[in-house]
Amino acid sequence: MGKCPDCNAWDALEEQRVERSAGKDPQRGLIEGWQSAHQAASDELSPELASAAQAVPIGSVGNGQEPRARLRTGIGELDRVLGGGLVAGSVVLIGGDPGIGKSTLMLQAAGAMGSPAGRSTEPATTSTLRVLYVSSEESAEQVRMRAARLGVDGAPNLFVLSDTNLARIVEQTRKLLPHILVIDSVQMVYKADLDASPGSIAQLRRCCAELVYLAKLSGIAVVLVGHVTKDGQLAGPRLLEHLVDAVLYFEGDRYHAHRILRGVKNRFGTTLEIGIFEMTGSGLKEVPGGLAVGVLEGPAAGAKVGAVVCPMMTGTRCVLVEVQALTATGFLGAAKRKSSGLDANRLAMLIAVLEQHAGLRLADRDVFASSVGGLRVTEPAADLALLLAIAGAHFKRALSPGTAVIGEVGLGGEVRAVMQTEQRASESARLGFKRIIVPDTRQKLKIPGAEIIPVRTIAKAIEELR
Ligand code: TYD
Ligand code: MG
Repeated sequence: MGKCPDCNAWDALEEQRVERSAGKDPQRGLIEGWQSAHQAASDELSPELASAAQAVPIGSVGNGQEPRARLRTGIGELDRVLGGGLVAGSVVLIGGDPGIGKSTLMLQAAGAMGSPAGRSTEPATTSTLRVLYVSSEESAEQVRMRAARLGVDGAPNLFVLSDTNLARIVEQTRKLLPHILVIDSVQMVYKADLDASPGSIAQLRRCCAELVYLAKLSGIAVVLVGHVTKDGQLAGPRLLEHLVDAVLYFEGDRYHAHRILRGVKNRFGTTLEIGIFEMTGSGLKEVPGGLAVGVLEGPAAGAKVGAVVCPMMTGTRCVLVEVQALTATGFLGAAKRKSSGLDANRLAMLIAVLEQHAGLRLADRDVFASSVGGLRVTEPAADLALLLAIAGAHFKRALSPGTAVIGEVGLGGEVRAVMQTEQRASESARLGFKRIIVPDTRQKLKIPGAEIIPVRTIAKAIEELR
């Protein structure tokens, strides 16, 4: 058009492009909502986050201020796995089998954060933290009953909401402006304006994406709880891993008291650390560092056939684990090799090494191996322990009481050095294991109060079975 139909001026029109999808931007409503909320409580929110993003030199991000402080959860083992606490504006996903204790852990953490007395007094977190615990699975009364059992129902800054509609959850969050938002579980949350049914992949993705967006925009630390489905995949957690900042898995045998919290992704810390808890009648108790998980009787117990203790490294911490093996009559050509908590390929390899280099005949023997206490043993440093457990079970012999075993086994039947041998050995000695079988290396290991037995080959190690 050359002439404006409105004011009749000629050549006055300018071209402006309109994004066709702009009106449908799913996050638009959320942004506008938060911007008005930001106006209302501007001291609570970081202004850069609410306004449109601009490229800035890296040094002046956040106006060159110190990075945000970590929010201590008040649960040491959880903080350890998170890398020092929750980060404001981040999203953490906690996955695990149903019934493993995710809700218990999160409610305990929420309670500890929501009551000033329960938290360690780190400088940055002495002000009280407001926590909103959204339960999409349980009613508020149920949450309260559980909180009473865990002794956190008196937390003044812990707020509970029982809802599954994301819009209403966001609305409540906006009203309350908590520092920490826990959604238990994210799989039950839905967006009403989406056709897909609650719990479907589309719902889950969209809800999680909005919650991530909300965290970045508002500076709230969001914790999402997700269930692993039967086949070990989270019809959620797996799907959401790339969206969130940290993914923690809560594992363990439901039939054992020990629970392990493990990081599989963490944008703010290492994923090597694990947290160890024990489920008790009044919630989860932290297990202090170095405790021998699965070494049920400790070094004082008599020697057991087919059971060997090995020190495993998990991040900066050493954990003693007992591996067990059993051999039984099987059929030649169809012998079973079954493992629980151990790597099946590693087991097959060790059986082959035993046959080749130690002359054991296992072709018609079923071999079963497991790690005690539900801890997954994947380190090669546990090879020699597992090998001695199998050989011990086969010969019906045991190591002398109080022996710990460290070493990787090579295909040639040699015992290879492993990392942090000294730390493993001294931790074993500290926990009362006074005889330690280690790989023979040029550097001779000396641990006060412990007998070190260096071995070069598996044959030499098997001689230790009496
Ligand atoms: P829960 O946290 O509900 O598991 P999730 O949220 O991962 O599905 O806890 C599951 C189990 O924990 C429950 O079956 C019983 C046990 N439990 C205790 O042993 N002691 C306790 O104090 C609580 C609260 C739970
Ligand atoms: Mg739960």
